[in-house]
Amino acid sequence: MTIWENLRPLFPYLRRYRRGFLVGGLFAVCSNAIWVLFPQVIRRAIDDMTRHLSYRGILFYAGLLIAVALAKGVFLFLTRWVLIGLSRDIEYDLRNDIFRTLELQAPGYFREHRTGDIMARATNDLNAVRMLLGPAIMYSLNTLLFTVGALIFMVRISPWLTLLAFVPLPAASILVQYFGRRIHERFERIQAMYSDISAQVQENVAGARLVRAFAQEEAEIRSFERANAEYIRRALRLVRLMGMLWPTLEFLLGLSLVVVLLVGGHEVVTRRISVGAFVAFTTYMTMLTWPVIALGWVVNLVQRGTASVRRIHELLIAKPSISDATLPVGQAPPTEIRGEIEFRNLTLTYPGTAAPVLRKIDLRIPEGTSLAIVGPTGAGKTSLVSLIPRLMEAERGTLLIDGRSVMDYPLATLRQAIGFVPQETFLFGETIRENVAFGAPNATDEAVLDATRAAHIRDEILEFPKGFDTLVGERGITLSGGQKQRIAIARALIRDPKILILDDALSSVDTYTEEQILHELAERMRGRTTIFISHRVSTVRHADQIAVLVDGSIVELGTHDELVARNGYYTELHEKQMLEEELAVVG
Ligand code: CTP
Ligand code: MG
Repeated sequence: MTIWENLRPLFPYLRRYRRGFLVGGLFAVCSNAIWVLFPQVIRRAIDDMTRHLSYRGILFYAGLLIAVALAKGVFLFLTRWVLIGLSRDIEYDLRNDIFRTLELQAPGYFREHRTGDIMARATNDLNAVRMLLGPAIMYSLNTLLFTVGALIFMVRISPWLTLLAFVPLPAASILVQYFGRRIHERFERIQAMYSDISAQVQENVAGARLVRAFAQEEAEIRSFERANAEYIRRALRLVRLMGMLWPTLEFLLGLSLVVVLLVGGHEVVTRRISVGAFVAFTTYMTMLTWPVIALGWVVNLVQRGTASVRRIHELLIAKPSISDATLPVGQAPPTEIRGEIEFRNLTLTYPGTAAPVLRKIDLRIPEGTSLAIVGPTGAGKTSLVSLIPRLMEAERGTLLIDGRSVMDYPLATLRQAIGFVPQETFLFGETIRENVAFGAPNATDEAVLDATRAAHIRDEILEFPKGFDTLVGERGITLSGGQKQRIAIARALIRDPKILILDDALSSVDTYTEEQILHELAERMRGRTTIFISHRVSTVRHADQIAVLVDGSIVELGTHDELVARNGYYTELHEKQMLEEELAVVG
């Protein structure tokens, strides 16, 4: 693949700023056009000196040199300002786009990609791309313009000498290409290792409690040290390569200077060119040293940058696996949800696994009724309810809401109608108020108070010194499991959902509080659809329907009384828990 193909993903971004690049390019032209005049001034000065030396003449040339340098400096500043600024603009766009695509991915995406890897791409790789867009473009432009300008004057001084001076150039270009490929490969390997390291740090920070509890600190430190050493080893291999590239380039340049000195000296002695012209010529050559060396650096930036462009592009092109359906022309998407849910012969298999987790589920939850799901751990309860807000995808026609496929609804409409309390509570590192109002940003303080009251957490929050402004998580208060669960319930309730799903959402609260919350929910959810998942009979007994899910299949379905009479899984569960309760009372 050529470099252009590798860089193609950047073209739309570059195009957006083409006027800026034009302006920056013009400034670069100005600064270089002025800078190539510098040796010309020296040439005139020296040639004048060899003829008639006047003090005023020297002052004039000195002043001219300063003026040229100043004017060049101003335009160089402008070039830098515009071009580096543009690289920041594109960095801004890219970062936003990366976040946007990540935000739209279905949850399954994050099971397949490690957080650390994503973070590395969004930081380290983005930075490499910015260096490519800013300094790399600027330096190659400057090198190109100055070389062209210098070449014109050098040829006018002596075409023959110019030819000699540029003899090592093909060698330099071969060198740069050879190194470029290797730099690219090595840099890709470095970035991959960096992703690994980031992932390790992230997982050890997130899993700090677990690592301590299992006394795995030393093992983790050793494993990290190994990865870190590997990263440095790969980085050093790149340093070695780079370390070889620059001196080689400089050597080639020095070589051509020697040749020019020998041949040019002869030209001067035989009076074919003036002393001033010769000095100007060598000045051009020394002035070319830096741009040529910069070229070596640019090659490095470009190689790193293209490796990173590819890695960022992979993030950007990942299509969300779950998105709004395109309906046939003339068919409008449903805009309202009443709350009837129906599973029709639904079978679900996770990608990459053989056996289905849900088998032939047939279940209708009429609008405004409640369903409870019980069953052993791993039976597929969470999987079943995840299908309703389309956190996972069911086959078309197997899950209907109000008689239409769940896929027909725009995701926003569907999810707006659902209050979801996931099994694993997640709260953001913000205030309690912000967490409760997460899905209803316009909620009033009264609404927040009301929802937390219904979830039986309001009074506890008010007892915190900062009340609803208490920060949650790392920088704030650490809430108990039960407190978190109830905040999550309030977060779902404040949206006033048509469908409420509680996935084991009362598992960490005591049975007394549970009863009160259930009572409150019954009031609020009257005429709405509610789905409870629980391991406790006390949570589910008042539900309109109770489904027993075992190994992916519904094995029992009915009301509490019906199921108790059936002498099956539910009866056993009921008896066991009644016994426990009695024992608790006795104890
Ligand atoms: N599973 C999977 N991939 C996932 C999630 C779950 O392969 N991304 C599998 C699990 O290994 C399990 C089965 O799907 O065997 C059902 O998981 P789940 O629906 O979460 O079970 P629950 O009934 O919710 O179990 P629990 O009571 O423990 O919450
Ligand atoms: Mg579950």
